[in-house]
Order: sequence, then C-alpha cells, then structure tokens
Amino acid sequence: MSPRSFPRLFMLLHLTAALVAAVPVSSSSAGGVNSTSQPIDATFARRLPQALIIGAKKSGTRALLAFICMHPDVQAPGPEVHFFDRNYHRGLDWYRKRMPASLPSQLTMEKTPGYFISESAPSRVHSMNPDTRLVLVVRDPVTRILSDYAQASANAAGGSSRRRNRRNRRRKNRRKHRRRQAGRRGSSIKPIESLAFRSRPGNGSQPELLEVSANWTAVRIGEYARHLANWLAVFPRQQILVLSGERLVADPGAVMEELQRFLGLELIITGRHFYFDRRKGFHCLKKAGRRGKPRCLAGNKGRRHPNLAPELIRRLRQFYAPKNREFYAMTGVNFGWPEL
Ligand code: A3P
Repeated sequence: MSPRSFPRLFMLLHLTAALVAAVPVSSSSAGGVNSTSQPIDATFARRLPQALIIGAKKSGTRALLAFICMHPDVQAPGPEVHFFDRNYHRGLDWYRKRMPASLPSQLTMEKTPGYFISESAPSRVHSMNPDTRLVLVVRDPVTRILSDYAQASANAAGGSSRRRNRRNRRRKNRRKHRRRQAGRRGSSIKPIESLAFRSRPGNGSQPELLEVSANWTAVRIGEYARHLANWLAVFPRQQILVLSGERLVADPGAVMEELQRFLGLELIITGRHFYFDRRKGFHCLKKAGRRGKPRCLAGNKGRRHPNLAPELIRRLRQFYAPKNREFYAMTGVNFGWPEL
C-alpha cells in the first residue's frame, strides 16, 4: 500500500508519528523513534537519508524538520545525529541504524545544523551519496547570535528543555535550587558583550577600539558565505536549497511549498496546516483529525533574546554587511538583512 494512494488517512497517522519524531514535545517522544530494532519487513527498512537539513543553527532548522515530517512521504529521526561532523568514525551502518524505518516510496531526512560549519562534512556527504539534496535555512546573522546566546545561557542555567523533560520531579527541584544558588553567585555564562567583542588597546592619539570577536563560534556561524563556499566546492548550487528563516516564521506554508518542490514531493503541506498562536508568537501546527491536538514547537524555540546596546548591534551589522552581500551574490537571493 503506497502512502500516495491514501494521502488523508496516511497523513493523519503520519502526523502523530511525525510530531513524535521531530518535535521534542516530551521526554518520551524525544528518543522514541531512534530505537535500533530491526527492520519490520523487507520493504519497511532503515535507509540512509537522501536529503539533509545542514543548518544554520538557530535559524529554524527544527521548525523546518517538524513541518516537513507532516508529509506522509517523509521520515526523519527526532534527535540530531551529528554523523558527518562528530560521529563519522562510527561508519555508515551506525548512521543508517539511527534512521527511522521507511517505505521505499518515502524520503528519509536528517537535520544536524553543525554540518554547515564543518569543513569535513561536504566531502563526507558527497561520498555517501553525491545526489544528496541539501537544505540550508538562514536568518539575519545578528539575530542568530542573540538566539544562540539565549540558548547557551538557558543551557548554562539548567539544561535544555529536552533534558528538563527527562528528569523527574526530585531532580528538577534540586536543579531549581542550584539555579537559585547560581543566580546568587551571578550569571553562569559571560555577558554577551564580552563574548561578541574584544577591545584593542589604542596607542597615544588613538582611543581603545572595540572590535567584533570573529573567532567566537556564534559570530563565525553567521559568516554564511564562507561556509557555503565549502559546500559549493563539492555540490552544484542547484542541489542546495537556501531558505529564509524570517520567511519560515512569517509564512511557513510558502516555505514548505518551496521545500516540497525541491524535494520532489507531492504538494501536501500548505498554509492550511498552520495557525498563528498568539501566546507562542509563532505559527503552530493545526490539529490532525478530531482527536488530534494543535502543536507548537517546544518552549526552547522562540526564547527571549538578550538586550544588546544599539551601538553594538550596529557594529555587528557593519561586520556582517559585506559578508552578507557576498552570500546574496553566491545564492542569488537577497535576504535584505539590515546593514545599520
Ligand atoms: P528563537 O528561539 O531565537 O526565536 P533552530 O531550530 O535552528 O534552533 O532555530 C530556532 C528558531 O526557529 C527560533 O529562534 C525561532 O525564531 C525559529 N522558528 C521558526 N519557526 C518557528 C515556529 N513555528 N515556532 C517556533 N520557532 C520557530
């Protein structure tokens, strides 16, 4: 039975599985799809991914995966597998076992934003399969830094939401206590100003200069042109879909249509699958069927960003302006990120 023959029925069943697979809503869902049990039968088997969401971190990679997983012809593991950047030595068979079982008609996808900035990943992906379709979602690199910092400080203060969900009440209370103690001692992560900038001492007539810390990973990730060049050295441009994270937030239906076309999928996920959730401040998935519940992404998506003085924001924008223009030229897409 092909899922294409029963799109509605299959979609209802699949929607539940997809949310479990791709949205870290609860502890039980986070790792549920990754068991390494054997294939159920010869046609329903674990397969290497034919498409990857390679990055960029904090640009909407989870939303993109969660939304495309609503498609009946897509399967993906929930957690990031980090095969091409951290686990390559484990071999392709290890990687394949991390994939959920799929039908031959389905597309297996994986997302690990770390791939985008890994220098080894492009050739490794190519040697797995030179036809792998690559998806890159990017957002204004300055906002991306703020988002990255918000995540790092949340993690430093007590762990990611997935970990939080996994722990029992007793451990939760203990952590709350530790967090209170840490709060008393002061922040557990350096202020963003001192991570994103460093001062260069002035000489005589020249005052001290504040310059962007280009080596800080959060700054480095936003140098999109530099990382994309590594991928374009190995893959043709048309094999890489570059999407706007800002557009994904504003109009997920339109972005999903673009993604489905690129992946050669039947156009099933459209704007009709989303509603804007005022409390969350983002689009969420509409309920599937009579008993389904509407689902928003977990609370670790859409965090409050730190405040950075307008002058420092301006300096970051100046730092990125020429790099962004280079990226627009490379991709043929003007993302229109502010330069001042
Ligand atoms: P913020 O937390 O800064 O708002 P990633 O999944 O790559 O870590 O990206 C996280 C970002 O996804 C969030 O960054 C948020 O802006 C964006 N995003 C896009 N669509 C979203 C949605 N429907 N719900 C929640 N976050 C979404």
